[in-house]
Amino acid sequence: MSKIAIVYGTSTGATKDIAEKIQKALGAADLYDIANLNLDQLKPYDLWILGASTTGYGDLQDDWDSILTKFAALDFSGKKVALFGLGDSSSYSDTFVNGMAQIYNAIQEKAEIVGAVSTDGYTYDDSEAVVDGKFVGLAIDEDNEYDQTDSRITAWVNDLKQYI
Ligand SMILES: Cc1cc2nc3c(=O)[nH]c(=O)nc-3n(C[C@H](O)[C@H](O)[C@H](O)COP(=O)(O)O)c2cc1C
Repeated sequence: MSKIAIVYGTSTGATKDIAEKIQKALGAADLYDIANLNLDQLKPYDLWILGASTTGYGDLQDDWDSILTKFAALDFSGKKVALFGLGDSSSYSDTFVNGMAQIYNAIQEKAEIVGAVSTDGYTYDDSEAVVDGKFVGLAIDEDNEYDQTDSRITAWVNDLKQYI
């Protein structure tokens, strides 16, 4: 069984709530707020699940943004990474979950990223987090589509189970 770390960055708590739901769905995983994390703490884990909201106009959540360069310099060998991102597909339809794309872009050349998600069922105009027709991770919209959150998490965690 893989050791799993969930690392979230949140501005108003929504991403933390989703991180806790993912933790519950997985059964066993340790939870870290990127604002208080010493990156060395991630070394023992096999799967890193990274979650961030989007702020500004398509910007990465502040705590994540301030550490992203250092994070991207970590040793990813032997690690798998899965991403989730929170956004608002109605008010920010042109930059939906772009924060997740910023983490993806920073690490994709060196990390094995798993858990891409079909865009079926989402309504938005544009997202940098869509690569080859899929979200690079789990997109969650707690502002408008909270009624779909639980089923989206369940499906995603079931998909991730092949890697753990
Ligand atoms: C000032 C502000 C700017 C935002 N910009 C975006 C954006 O560009 N794209 C997007 O998808 N969501 C955007 N959002 C929506 C948030 O990402 C969303 O509400 C999220 O659930 C917040 O999660 P958090 O509480 O964990 O930070 C924005 C929200 C605020 C308050």
